[in-house]
Amino acid sequence: MTMAKDQNLTLCFHRITAKPVIAETLKPTYIPENCILIKVDRFAFTANNLTYQTLAEHPHFRFYDLHPAPTSGDVSPKTHGVVPSWGFGNVVASNHPQVQVGERLYGCFAPTRYLLLPIARTEKYKMTVDRPYIPTSNRLYNDLMRTSTDPLYKPTPLSENLMLLYRPLFWSSYWCEDWLFSSEYCGGCSTILISAASSKTAFCFAYCVRKTDPSIQIIGLTSRSHVSFCQNRLGGLYDAVLDYESFHTSTFYRKAIAEAGSRWIYVDVSGNPKLTERVHQTFIPVQNAKLSTSIQMGLASLGPGSVAYNWLIGANGGVGGKEGTKRPWSHLQTPSSGKPLDVMAAAKAASSSTATPTSPVSALGLPNSLTHLFPTPEPFYTPSWLAIRIPQFPSGGELQEMLKDDWEELMRECQGQSNNISNAKRPWIDVTVTYDGREGKTVKEAYERILERGGRMGPEEGYVWSMWESAEKAGRVDAEAFADAKKVKTPFEAQVGRTYQAKL
Ligand SMILES: NC(=O)c1ccc[n+]([C@@H]2O[C@H](COP(=O)([O-])OP(=O)(O)OC[C@H]3O[C@@H](n4cnc5c(N)ncnc54)[C@H](OP(=O)(O)O)[C@@H]3O)[C@@H](O)[C@H]2O)c1
Repeated sequence: MTMAKDQNLTLCFHRITAKPVIAETLKPTYIPENCILIKVDRFAFTANNLTYQTLAEHPHFRFYDLHPAPTSGDVSPKTHGVVPSWGFGNVVASNHPQVQVGERLYGCFAPTRYLLLPIARTEKYKMTVDRPYIPTSNRLYNDLMRTSTDPLYKPTPLSENLMLLYRPLFWSSYWCEDWLFSSEYCGGCSTILISAASSKTAFCFAYCVRKTDPSIQIIGLTSRSHVSFCQNRLGGLYDAVLDYESFHTSTFYRKAIAEAGSRWIYVDVSGNPKLTERVHQTFIPVQNAKLSTSIQMGLASLGPGSVAYNWLIGANGGVGGKEGTKRPWSHLQTPSSGKPLDVMAAAKAASSSTATPTSPVSALGLPNSLTHLFPTPEPFYTPSWLAIRIPQFPSGGELQEMLKDDWEELMRECQGQSNNISNAKRPWIDVTVTYDGREGKTVKEAYERILERGGRMGPEEGYVWSMWESAEKAGRVDAEAFADAKKVKTPFEAQVGRTYQAKL
């Protein structure tokens, strides 16, 4: 099958320096058997993508294996990587008997215009990319949702943008809460403390906990400049919001931690071992409150360009590494102390590998005599928990069907249109769409601006990017085309009705 010549642009990153570059290639003109060509019209960019980039070379995650970089000029898969990005796209060419041109898909795409993907399987709700070589725990990233049958999909630009920004993060929070729920919150819990409280993952997690058990006290830890966002914009998702510098000395925290018999869970989304150490240490002198569980959920503070990242990949002559050489992941050490980093804990959850991960507790640098006082930080990785959970549910999209009410409720809440959980009167975040080259702003520059700020993104900003110059060139959502398909009841819906609540 051959196609007309057309330009393709792909945002790529140097595998050592993380420097962004736009690779210019041609739109594929040959579509091999069982392959489809997707025109990606836009994708979201959050700290989650920076974490994909940070872990891109890690043997348990291998995020650069999802979409190999194109070959063009100085760019090749050997020197550059492509960061997976949750996006929407339309099939513009198909050499697969079950996939029609024009079908709209949502999935873990790439920051590009055109994406050629081999399809292994098609089902009513999704199709699966043929990538047998990626780690088993990451197979979830092979699923492309067919919007025509996706119960959560609404064909409006706003709804699509919110789906890009919230869907992967909300479901991670949802399943993390489900994981805790399955152990009755580790034997009971009165307070949950969450770091990187201004991140979507953290505040969606707070939302899920609040929905499940309003009696649990939720305390958010955040940067000083993000306290107001967490307190005001999120409309009371947290009972209290404290900043990283002073939380442990605040009257509120000292009183809370002195409450006899209270049981706490710490959910770390920031991924800062020093902060985890400080949190754990607050439980030493008091011991009225018990820290029952410590969970490692995110690595928001470990973005490309951070000191730790440079050290991890051995760039800039980082401790123990020569410039331009890669550190073996099994020998991670922090630049300042030479102590192992917590990243291995996340890797442990990602795979059933026999490799022995470095003890996360010893990574905190606590004296050995004190480590027994604290729970070992337990990693949570959504695909690993879903590998256990999904077989317990009806198959494929029927699961999405069951989750529809929860998703729709989140969509109302996050836009300030419903106040069951949060009191927000306006949307939790503002969506800004950047088209490449429009008004002189390019996606590459938008990324560079984030790097200049040390990988920091304003929590109120929801970035949606497109490698096209305009919405018109990117293509548009055809509301009519899928309206009929969405009226069809799924077998599960027809069988039991939509009785599913938060838990089964
Ligand atoms: N375990 C899993 O399965 C799973 C699933 C989904 C996401 N996650 C992880 O959760 C984390 C948050 O992702 P997200 O997309 O929800 O984030 P996001 O909404 O983009 O979060 C932005 C917030 O993250 C913190 N942050 C971002 N960059 C930082 C930096 N360079 N240094 C320090 N803090 C930084 C700041 O929060 P504060 O000021 O409040 O610290 C910032 O306001 C990521 O590491 C992601 O990979 C894990």
